[in-house]
Parts: sequence; structure tokens; C-alpha cells
Amino acid sequence: MELKNLFSPKRIGNVLIKNRIIRSATYMGSTEKYGFVGDKLIKIYDDLARGGTGLIISGYTAVDPSGTASPYQACLFDDSFIPGQKKLVKCVHEYSDVKIGIQIAHTGRLGNHPKYHPLAPSPVFYKRTELTPREMTTDEVKDYIKKFVDTGRRAYECGYDMIQLHAAHGYYLSNFISPRTNMRKDEFGGDIEGRAKCLIDIYRGLRDELGTNFPIIIKLQIQDFVPNGLSLEEGVTTAKILSNAGFDAIEPSGGGEETLLLTKDAYPSQFVKKPDDENYFLPIVKKIKSSMKNTALILMGGIRNPKTVDKILEDGFADFISLSRPLIYEPNLPSRWESGDLSPAKCISCNGCYMTMLNGPVYCVTKKRLEKRKKR
Ligand SMILES: Cc1cc2nc3c(=O)[nH]c(=O)nc-3n(C[C@H](O)[C@H](O)[C@H](O)COP(=O)(O)O)c2cc1C
Repeated sequence: MELKNLFSPKRIGNVLIKNRIIRSATYMGSTEKYGFVGDKLIKIYDDLARGGTGLIISGYTAVDPSGTASPYQACLFDDSFIPGQKKLVKCVHEYSDVKIGIQIAHTGRLGNHPKYHPLAPSPVFYKRTELTPREMTTDEVKDYIKKFVDTGRRAYECGYDMIQLHAAHGYYLSNFISPRTNMRKDEFGGDIEGRAKCLIDIYRGLRDELGTNFPIIIKLQIQDFVPNGLSLEEGVTTAKILSNAGFDAIEPSGGGEETLLLTKDAYPSQFVKKPDDENYFLPIVKKIKSSMKNTALILMGGIRNPKTVDKILEDGFADFISLSRPLIYEPNLPSRWESGDLSPAKCISCNGCYMTMLNGPVYCVTKKRLEKRKKR
């Protein structure tokens, strides 16, 4: 069977992506200490670029020291990080047809930094850290909007092809969208429009700084999958509001660590044990597609089979697909599929890579085990 869609080019905003395959943002725990890019992280991106991915989205990159999740997470909250980030972008651009976007983020309510008490739109207790975040003042929310914009401007200076806001999985920006974690009475709370205002203000700030030709995209929480959390209907409405505001692409996601703590679901990185488990955010994507204006839609979550996703693209349910865990195992997966080997991704979604996140660097546990066995 020939793939008609997966390897056809398409634009996000004005940027042409050589195929429909995106690396979904993935923290690799591989910077030098305190967020500086070094050779270890660059090697990972070199492998991804060589492996045929059309657009690589970086792991979440901190916009402020208070929003870092680990000493080995990339940062760009001041100019000292620019030289390393520039080197990383340059390495990817050596592969002339590969694009790279940066995901910018703050931990928000999930923060567990030894020096900083977590900040969030509202003080809602978080079971994992056993902390209640401090509610931000209106002026602080505005300061943090500026921090996102300043980080975006630095990313532009580094040569990134686009910026992705991380507004999913319980981190800072998704705290604003969800009625469970945003009970604010000011302009940044209230109805769905109010809860989306922080995201739109960041978008407008970035547009003012960077012009209309630079894509601004978003990984967006559509459903919290926890009691009293963001409902699917509200998530779909938020996506529509953000498309109308001008975001160039939306990558729908849902859940987070709290879903696992309060229910047994492992969203966003669900287990995929059989073909029926694949493409688990497809029902969400289908609900959103018709309300997207000029916004590309990225299907993420459990993508393992090139033939199935080629059909999804053909049917027009999504414009791109994105992968995380399969590219940890096989950074060359897109090239493998393009060369005609259409067997599914080797990732068995054991989620062992999640465990490696705790101490970093991130690697595929299953692959390592098999390699060890072979050597014996
Ligand atoms: C080790 C690891 C690190 C991740 N880091 C991020 C991240 O930095 N930002 C983000 O939005 N999602 C992150 N994710 C979630 C993935 O991008 C993706 O949404 C999820 O794993 C489902 O896609 P998959 O089935 O292709 O793995 C991470 C997932 C894993 C396994």
C-alpha cells in the first residue's frame, strides 16, 4: 500500500512542512545543569532531524525560573540561554528541509521547585506535591504574559521556525482554561472567554513582537478527565475561540498527572495495547475540525500505524499527526515508513520512558532491555 498523504507537504501559517509528521513536545532531561543546551540534547535533535520528522517541537522550555520542573529542563527566560539554543536550532537546520518549533511553558499549579512556592490562577490543592499554589494577583498574571512574550522573542532570535504554547496537562496555561483550577473574579477568570484571555493576550503580545509571518501554535487541553474538570464541550469551545483569535495550529490534548492520581487513566500518554487503542484523541479532533478557521489541526496520542493515519489525513479529520513515545524508541521512524517499511511503530507504550524522566536522561526502557538481551 502506498501512503498518499503522510509524506505530502503542507503549511502551518507560512511555514512549509515537508511531510505531515511532527514530533510532539517531549522533555528529554538532557540539558546541562540548570537548563543550558549542550551536546547531549543536540545529539537527540540531530537524530530526530536525520530520521525524517518534518517538524520537531522541543520539550517544554521554561519562561521563568519559578516554572522549571527539573534542573535538566531547557530554559529561555534570559539571554544567557540564547547561544546554546541557537546551536540546537542550527543543528536541525543543517537538514535543510526540517523545521523546529519551541514549546514554552511554566509549571503553574504543578510546580515543585525547592526555591519557589507554586503559582496559579487559583489556590487549588495538588495531591502529588501536597501544596496549595499561591493565587496570583492581576498584575502578576500580566507580568507572566510578558514573560511568555519575552521568551518567544528570544526563541525567534535563536532561529526557531515557530512557537508552541504549552496549555495542557495541568501546567500553568491549562490552569487558566479549566473551571476547576480557575475561580478568578478578575478579567482572567469567569466564563470560557475570560478563562481563555491569558492565552489570547500572550498570542497578541507575540504577534505584536514577531509579525504575521511567524507561526504561533498551541498544545491545548480539551478535556481534564477528572471530576469537575474541563469538559469536552468547554474544551471544544476554547479551541474555537483560539482559532478565531488567529492561532496557526492547535494540537489537542487532555488529562495530565492529576488524571492518573484521581482516576486510573494515563492521559495524555495512554497505553496502546491493540489497534483499537490507537489514535485516542481522534474523537476530540473530529469534534473540533469543522470550527477551525485557518488553523491547522494536529492529531496526537497513540499514533502507531502509518496506514491508519494516512487514511485519517485523507478523510480530512486532521492536517498533521504528532508522535512522542514512538520517536524515543525510533527517531528514524518517519524515514522507515517513507522507505516503504510500513510496520507499526515499535513503541509498546510501557511508559517506562516516563519513569526515566524522574532522574533523566529520558530513554526507551524496552529498547534498552532488548539491546542488552541481544548482547548476551
Ligand atoms: C518522556 C515524555 C516527556 C514528555 N514531555 C512533554 C512535554 O515537554 N510537553 C508536552 O506537551 N508533552 C510532553 N509529553 C507528552 C507527549 O508529547 C504526548 O502528548 C503523549 O506522550 C502522547 O503521545 P504518544 O502516544 O505519541 O506518546 C511527554 C511524554 C513523554 C513520554
